[in-house]
Amino acid sequence: VIDIGALYSTTGAFTYDPGFTSTASCESAITFIDGDAGILLHRGYPIDQLAEHGDFLEVCYLLLYGELPTKAQKDDFDYRVTRHTMVHEQMSRFFTGFRRDAHPMAVMCGVVGALSAFYHDSTDISDPYQRMVASMRLIAKMPTIAAMAYKYHIGQPFIYPKNELNFAANFLHMCFAVPCEEYKINPVLARAMERIFILHADHEQNASTSTVRLAGSSGANPFACIAAGIACLWGPAHGGANEAALNMLGEIGHVDNIPEFIARAKDKNDPFRLMGFGHRVYKNYDPRAKIMQKTAHEVLGELGIKDDPLLDIAMELEKIALTDEYFIEKKLYPNVDFYSGITLKALGFPTTMFTVLFAVARTVGWIAQWKEMIEDPHQKIGRPRQLYTGATERDYVPIAKR
Ligand code: ACO
Repeated sequence: VIDIGALYSTTGAFTYDPGFTSTASCESAITFIDGDAGILLHRGYPIDQLAEHGDFLEVCYLLLYGELPTKAQKDDFDYRVTRHTMVHEQMSRFFTGFRRDAHPMAVMCGVVGALSAFYHDSTDISDPYQRMVASMRLIAKMPTIAAMAYKYHIGQPFIYPKNELNFAANFLHMCFAVPCEEYKINPVLARAMERIFILHADHEQNASTSTVRLAGSSGANPFACIAAGIACLWGPAHGGANEAALNMLGEIGHVDNIPEFIARAKDKNDPFRLMGFGHRVYKNYDPRAKIMQKTAHEVLGELGIKDDPLLDIAMELEKIALTDEYFIEKKLYPNVDFYSGITLKALGFPTTMFTVLFAVARTVGWIAQWKEMIEDPHQKIGRPRQLYTGATERDYVPIAKR
């Protein structure tokens, strides 16, 4: 009979770390977070500077290649991404297989996974050129697929990419333009969209990125890996939080009801959590939340939305939570998703699209992390161990004798 306790003691160092709160799974040179100080750097550059001055494709280049591009490099990168914005026409038929009321994230899991069935050449991960092409394809096609999921959901025809527009503006165009009508890009809204994409571009080894790395560690192709990341992102404790946060603000309904919800969040017997609050890593303030709050105000101001009741609730909730003993003690601060929902709603997106937009932005982080892993000479298949708590060895009992 195997002595299970002895087994663990003979396999060398063994750590039991549920949720991997103190286990590094890889080395990475892409993103640095100091959660206590509220710092987020991409390749050394602070997120607020990138969000203020950069454009999304510039940040994509930075994450993928480690340096900000020169003008010539940026032009070349933009051109290469732009060349890949269309999806195979056959793919558009894929959408019609889904029910119209399907959640767009369900559609995204399926359609993005199916990219490997359309681009066989990019599934050869041993070829650096094909890895680059796969990266371009994913960054370029995600907004197109996301916009198609949205159009399908609302019963409108697909709008093809307009490649003279920048990444964010093109995305708004594909989502909100309708045939036979001119769609004018509002630069303030396009800039807000761009900032949302930048703020969500990467966040080191979060659940979905770790999922992408784990899937990729077996040699799975990048499209399959990104589909795995999308599936993980969907959960309300991760990317689904922006949708959940906005729904929660709606449920609170009025600033007068906030104390009741704060009390529920503190009650150990109530599973309710304040959505958009708390973060595994940030125990000071999520630096992205500050930028997102400013962006929310800019968008509402531009659209002339005064006294948005949800924004009022959000601001009051933040104020109360930040001075409440429970939230201070547990170091719970608004995260990026707290204000992104309000902004996306004002931009015209339904809540079901929020996590989809997160996936569009995070694709570059996933692919940069995947590429870094594939190019790491020490890369191994990811294979966490477990602490076995089941039955000890016993003999099979025939069914008649059980
Ligand atoms: N509301 C009320 N209490 C909370 C909240 C919350 N939002 N978040 C954490 N707590 C409490 C927990 O009940 C726990 O209390 P305890 O110590 O008495 O048991 C304590 O704070 C620590 O919580 P954990 O769940 O252990 O912290 P963890 O780091 O694992 O969780 C998480 C982080 C999942 C983000 C959590 O704060 C949460 O569920 N937040 C709401 C969902 C959300 O906004 N997610 C978005 C994350 S950001 C992103 O994905 C971009």
